[in-house]
Amino acid sequence: MKEYTSENLRDMYLNFFKERGHKVIPSASLIPENDPTVLFTTAGMHPLVPYLLGEKHPAGNRLTDVQKCVRTGDIDDVGDERHCTFFEMLGNWSLGDYFKKEMIPWSYEFLTGKDYLDIPSDKLAVTVFGGDETLPRDDEAAELWEKAGIKKENIYFMPRENNWWGPAGLTGPCGTDTEMFVIRKPKCGPDCNPDCKCGAFLEIWNDVFMRFNKQADGSYTELKQKNVDTGMGLERALCVLNGKTSVYETDIFENAIRKIAELTGREYGKDKETTRAFRVVLDHVRTATFMIGDEKGIVPSNTDQGYILRRIIRRAVRYGRKIELPEGSLAAVAEIFVEKYKGVYPELEINRARIAEELDKEESKFSKTLQQGLKEFEKCIGGLERKNAFMSQKDPAYVPEKVIGGKQAFHLYDTYGFPVEITQEMAKERGYGVDLEGYQAAFEEHQSKSKAGSEQKFACGLADHKEETTRLHTATHLLHAALKKVLGEEVNQRGSNITEERLRFDFNFDRPMTKEEIAEVESLVNEKIRENIPVEMKELSLEEAKAEGFTGLFESKYGERVKTYSIGDFSREICGGPHAATTGELGTFKIVKEQSSSAGVRRIKAVLVHE
Ligand code: ALA
Repeated sequence: MKEYTSENLRDMYLNFFKERGHKVIPSASLIPENDPTVLFTTAGMHPLVPYLLGEKHPAGNRLTDVQKCVRTGDIDDVGDERHCTFFEMLGNWSLGDYFKKEMIPWSYEFLTGKDYLDIPSDKLAVTVFGGDETLPRDDEAAELWEKAGIKKENIYFMPRENNWWGPAGLTGPCGTDTEMFVIRKPKCGPDCNPDCKCGAFLEIWNDVFMRFNKQADGSYTELKQKNVDTGMGLERALCVLNGKTSVYETDIFENAIRKIAELTGREYGKDKETTRAFRVVLDHVRTATFMIGDEKGIVPSNTDQGYILRRIIRRAVRYGRKIELPEGSLAAVAEIFVEKYKGVYPELEINRARIAEELDKEESKFSKTLQQGLKEFEKCIGGLERKNAFMSQKDPAYVPEKVIGGKQAFHLYDTYGFPVEITQEMAKERGYGVDLEGYQAAFEEHQSKSKAGSEQKFACGLADHKEETTRLHTATHLLHAALKKVLGEEVNQRGSNITEERLRFDFNFDRPMTKEEIAEVESLVNEKIRENIPVEMKELSLEEAKAEGFTGLFESKYGERVKTYSIGDFSREICGGPHAATTGELGTFKIVKEQSSSAGVRRIKAVLVHE
């Protein structure tokens, strides 16, 4: 096989589809524009959801791109051979244009063509949807593959778990898919198939045939148009094509590995622990570089995307310590990634200084407390060990306590800046767990005691819990719902900051609101205030909250139970509170300013007037 680099694989892919009538579009931001249910863009199709649902795309109905993606669900696995929290996804789309008959032969041509990936066809296997009680098996896809040149014995019918692409958020376009694999070695046994973990089959590409739209109640409707959505993870594909065993052994990480080796005097690949630490630093610094350097620039904070960024940077610092990476090195490693990617993602060059500055700031903040925090952590474990030893001696039936208390975990967070997930990971390394419910309780108790003016630690952006701030918080929920009614359902919260004097609310919308729209929003909010509707709080599991149509950020941080607030059937949000008891006490709602906040984001400032 040929040697591939990230540069030539990107070019080859985009050119292949350009030659077949596709427009190359730029990557969208890492922060989803149209979907408040997920914190980050998780797949190439994600920013295209409105167009897959039928809206007209300005560039036409055949598109191709390379999209920046973040998935943090498997962050604890980063350090092994293939997990990354950031990746690039190559993709092409038919928006109601071509379907299986065109896409499968193109996939085959790209995978096997001499001018393209040039993979021998007997080294390829594919899976297709095997059918279930709702949909028949996809014989058409299987026949198209066979006709194109895939050996019959390398075509596998698989169940829904394998060959169904669900929506990126809770609702949206979805359908059956066909996945493509490179055969690396002989099957491990007669039952071995592409789903087997033995490493015989390595996935390289996925074509989704989108025909359905998942509704909030879980049912499916037919889409107006039939779409194709394909995705090829760049890092994974490079690794497979070059016959490597790890995504970290591709050109993407080469220079950054050299840099870390230089800074630490350690050798990548020397032993398991060193390699793992290198990989965590590599992955996390790259992800942080893209988050901070994004056109919607994220900065470390204690909420939402900013929290994930903080957690990633702090985890990189912790692993960096294991290989004696000197303080201040993260920015130097980030610099290597800026150089590597600036041609494809010019925003990294534009934000180069900010990337270094934010990384330095966060690294130095955490470095100050890390050592002491680690000592404190050891004290917790030591205490439990002593207690367990003592009790076991007294009572042979005693079950050792293997859980770090919620208050202790909160202390590690509040005083030493250890995100609870990091404490959890450190505990796991020692065979311990963390009482997350207790942690959450301690967190909330602290919130309600906190004074105004401290660094924003509160859900929903409340500066304090004074009566008037709380009322403005309820007004914010009414405003959010009213904006959706007046401007469209796609309008969603981008940020919120509430003090005793005023609320400030950011939302995605790409033009100034008209005077009439502002007046309509105001009067709708005031109408709901006059109706004096009780504000109801219910604690639900995340699943129940989703099913009941509550909106909010669904990447739950601390566990599965969430607080939900509803105001009649006008507003339903997942939110930590607190809120006014009824809307009647809010007074008169008045928008004092509507202005731009950043590209595609508007900002409203509003007050409550009490006669
Ligand atoms: N949306 C599909 C995926 O991400 C192509 O795998």
